[in-house]
Amino acid sequence: MSLRVEPCTDLEELFKVWSPTYRDNAPVTIEPDKPRHDEAFAARIDGRIVGAFASLPMVVTREKAELRCAGIAGVAVLPHERQHGVGKAMMEHGIRHYREAGYELASLYAFSEKFYRKFGYEVAGYKYGIKVDMGRFPRFELTLPTAKLGAADRDQVRDCYETFARRRSGMNLRPQNQWDRIIQLDSNKAIYTVGEPVEAYAIVTHDWNFWVEQKVDEFVWTTQPGYESLLSVLSGIGINKTHLSWVEPSDSPYRAKHWDRGAELNAGSGFLMWRVLNVPKALSTLKPQTSGSFTIEVVDEHFTENQGPWWVEYSPEGVSVVPASKAGLVMDIRQFSQAFMGQPGLMDLALNGLIEVRSDADLLGASGLLSAQPVCCLDAF
Ligand SMILES: CC(C)(COP(=O)(O)OP(=O)(O)OC[C@H]1O[C@@H](n2cnc3c(N)ncnc32)[C@H](O)[C@@H]1OP(=O)(O)O)[C@@H](O)C(=O)NCCC(=O)NCCS
Repeated sequence: MSLRVEPCTDLEELFKVWSPTYRDNAPVTIEPDKPRHDEAFAARIDGRIVGAFASLPMVVTREKAELRCAGIAGVAVLPHERQHGVGKAMMEHGIRHYREAGYELASLYAFSEKFYRKFGYEVAGYKYGIKVDMGRFPRFELTLPTAKLGAADRDQVRDCYETFARRRSGMNLRPQNQWDRIIQLDSNKAIYTVGEPVEAYAIVTHDWNFWVEQKVDEFVWTTQPGYESLLSVLSGIGINKTHLSWVEPSDSPYRAKHWDRGAELNAGSGFLMWRVLNVPKALSTLKPQTSGSFTIEVVDEHFTENQGPWWVEYSPEGVSVVPASKAGLVMDIRQFSQAFMGQPGLMDLALNGLIEVRSDADLLGASGLLSAQPVCCLDAF
């Protein structure tokens, strides 16, 4: 029996695996010229397809830095072929392939975090799902001009999105074709904006039913007047609904300033897992604002090339990563991936003994480069 994982462009073949897993065994109806993924792989036993996964290429933020990240999606093994090592072979192939292709990171939404942890992924960051009873919705002041745009006007909110994205970690800097996935041109989604230029926007799929929950698909802001003016607009949209719900990153202004009993704040869903694929390359890509240095060792059972120990020296001019003889910090690739993304931050990991700190000076030095950051991604894949 030979098990191989290889690129696959034949959608019909891939759907043989995806259909029983993701579509109730119904034929998958995505038009062949509009696949949701960029690159797909098939696992084959003696040439027969038994498993598949795909990826969405992303460029994600980490303060001022941009990192290449493979968003892994559609991981599936035929139901009768599971638990015999096919999933493992696919996941190991994936991290190797994307590391060789120059990606610094891989990320995914897990069905079970425990499964992906085996391959070096760990949960970093969280989002709040906020749901507010319209009877108790706070009053927000509308101080900015408002507009209602259609799907064809989506370019008008891209600057606002990018400013929001660059203040956080893990946000996908979407190219045009990925904006097409967020707001398809032929969709009836509405985009509400406040400010000229746009200081906040919300993408809304209207539900005409009265007294139901109105969900906001995407809520993004760059200023406080923008945030509050947009909530004023949304309170009008929710006037004949029971609740309004939306998602905010963990730096949530709603939690910070507007929280009141009766609202629901749910941080328990939509966790993204992250994996640094290439430690020295990822560190060298960062764009620090301050200067410092530290030594670090990263234990990674899949890539000994990541281990080091590394001597890392950084300043606003750049980051240098070279081999060192010993390390002041030692951590597993999963905790390194968290510290690298910024949530939980390096100091939180140290506080809880989740990383080994042999030198406080190295911890302090590393915290200047790997500063704590809200980690958030608004894209589903
Ligand atoms: C998840 C899935 C791809 C795993 O593939 P698989 O071929 O069954 O997995 P493997 O046999 O290679 O298992 C690899 C390892 O993961 C472990 N594992 C498998 N499923 C697991 C689970 N649900 N939770 C935790 N560990 C799991 C196995 O025990 C094995 O561990 P070991 O190496 O220590 O023995 C497959 O079960 C599947 O298609 N599930 C349904 C679709 C799905 O949920 N996809 C994920 C979407 S994010």
